[in-house]
Amino acid sequence: MVPEQTDTTPESVGETYDAFAEAGTTNALGGNIHVGYWREGQDIPITEATDQLTDLVAGRLALRPGQRLLDVGCGNGVPALRIASAHGVRVTGVTVSSREVVQAARSAEGSEAYGRVSFQLADAMKLPFEDASFDGAFAIESLLHMPDQTAALTELRRVVRPGGRLVVADLCRRLPFTGDDKAVLDGMLDVYEIARISTPDEQRAQLTASGWQLLELTDIGEQVRASYGHGAAAFRDIAAMLAAPAAARLGAAAELLEAFGKHPHAGYLLITAQRL
Ligand SMILES: C[S@@+](CC[C@H](N)C(=O)[O-])C[C@H]1O[C@@H](n2cnc3c(N)ncnc32)[C@H](O)[C@@H]1O
Repeated sequence: MVPEQTDTTPESVGETYDAFAEAGTTNALGGNIHVGYWREGQDIPITEATDQLTDLVAGRLALRPGQRLLDVGCGNGVPALRIASAHGVRVTGVTVSSREVVQAARSAEGSEAYGRVSFQLADAMKLPFEDASFDGAFAIESLLHMPDQTAALTELRRVVRPGGRLVVADLCRRLPFTGDDKAVLDGMLDVYEIARISTPDEQRAQLTASGWQLLELTDIGEQVRASYGHGAAAFRDIAAMLAAPAAARLGAAAELLEAFGKHPHAGYLLITAQRL
């Protein structure tokens, strides 16, 4: 049986995101590399829904102009730029993909947040920052890639000042995937270079073990579920323009995404914690 935890490394994850950046896989999500959020009965395109998820994260950070934030696993910088522009804060983004750093820096040039955002290559499990150098931090769909999430959360606690907040948005597994369904979870881990998709209890335990005080943990899985179908369709469109091996890989990735998204055990957590 394939284990529920895989052996990712910052390098292997970086290579995966370099490849995604090269293939232009994020355009369909408005540049964000995360799910969209739809309120009850809301009918908005996926590009707006992904920004809406960013806004939910920002709303939990208790932001004040001038504050310094860390974006852990910043992708190509779209969430950081949106938050810095809307709230007048400074954001430092870290990623393990050098291509993302280049893309994010390029996007910053034309943004109203220019000069208040910066992006660099760094591993969240070993952050190159002083103790208590940030007012808060957020991690949107990045923790799941890390082989030692407790190490990353402990590092985050070190670099955030006392009283500062951490907001995590991440996929979760509500119950074990068993039988044929286990292949869907294992496939997700393998294809997307994911170390682990945690349960809500595992998330609570690792936050507490890292010294964070949990303020809120909500499963918004039903409000983000439509994203997986949109993502799969976008991957298929890109696959149609690629040569055989790459097209087959992206086609398989689309299938897994769709199957995971339809699974009732697939949830999504929005977590707010505070540094004591
Ligand atoms: C699904 S993307 C999310 C990107 C961005 N947060 C967003 O919402 O658009 C995952 C991101 O996590 C980053 N990441 C994964 N493991 C990391 C690590 N150990 N340290 C820093 N960043 C990491 C990847 O490089 C990628 O940018």
